[in-house]
Amino acid sequence: MNVPDIIIAIDGYSSTGKSSFAKLVAKKFDFLYLDSGALYRGVTLFAREEGLISEGNVIDPLLEERLAGLDLHFNAEGKLCTGERCIEKEIRSMEVSSQVSPIAAVPYVRAFVDEKLREYGRKGRIVMDGRDIGTAVFPNAELKIFMTASEEVRAQRRFDELVSKGENPTLEDVVKNLRDRDYIDSHRETNPLRRADDAYGLDNTEMGFTEELAWIQGLIQGKFGIL
Ligand code: CDP
Repeated sequence: MNVPDIIIAIDGYSSTGKSSFAKLVAKKFDFLYLDSGALYRGVTLFAREEGLISEGNVIDPLLEERLAGLDLHFNAEGKLCTGERCIEKEIRSMEVSSQVSPIAAVPYVRAFVDEKLREYGRKGRIVMDGRDIGTAVFPNAELKIFMTASEEVRAQRRFDELVSKGENPTLEDVVKNLRDRDYIDSHRETNPLRRADDAYGLDNTEMGFTEELAWIQGLIQGKFGIL
C-alpha cells in the first residue's frame, strides 16, 4: 500500500498499546516511529539521577536550567540515549513510571520535549504516540487515532511487560500506577490528555496485531483513496 507522506498521531491512556501499534504501523508503511513518552521518561530519569525530584514528587525548580544541558536523542535504532548512554531499560522501570506524570505536567518540561518532537516531525512520514500529539504537538496531523482498552487488559499487558524485563511488580501496583497517571495526565493544565475532535477511536481490548493492522489499512484506504 502506497501511503502518502503524512503524520500519524496516536494518543490515548496509559498502556493501551500505543507504542506497539505505532511500531507496527511504522514497519508496515516504512514510517519513522517516535515515542514521545520516552522523552518524558528520559527527563524523569535525569531528574532522579540529579536529585532534582523527591520521593514525594516535589520537583526542584533547578530542573529548568539543568534541562538546557541535557542531551536526549533517539539513536538509529530508535532507542532513547543521553550522550553515548542508551537508557531504554531504565526509563521503563516502575520508579520512573511513578514519577513521570508529575514531571510531564510541568510547562517548561513540555516545552523542552515539544521542541524535540517538532524537530523530528519536520522529516514528515512519521508516526508518533503520546498524550497530546493530535491536540497540541501536531494539531494538523493528517491522521489522528485515539486508543483505549479495558483497564484489566491494560494492567495485565503492562504487568507482563515488566515481568519479562526482570522486574517484580504486583498487579495492584501496576493498576494504581495506570490510574494515577491517567488522572494526572487528563487533569493537568498544560495540554491535558483528551481525544481530538477529528481523531478516530480504536478500542483494542479484544484485538491482536493482525486486526489492528487491518483496521488502519482500511482507514487509510478510505480516507486517502488508496488501493
Ligand atoms: O506507559 P505508557 O506507554 O502508556 O506511557 P508513555 O507513553 O511511556 O508516557 C509516560 C508518561 O509521559 C505519561 O503517563 C504522561 O504523563 C507523559 N506523556 C505526556 O504527558 N505527553 C505525551 N505526549 C507522552 C507522554
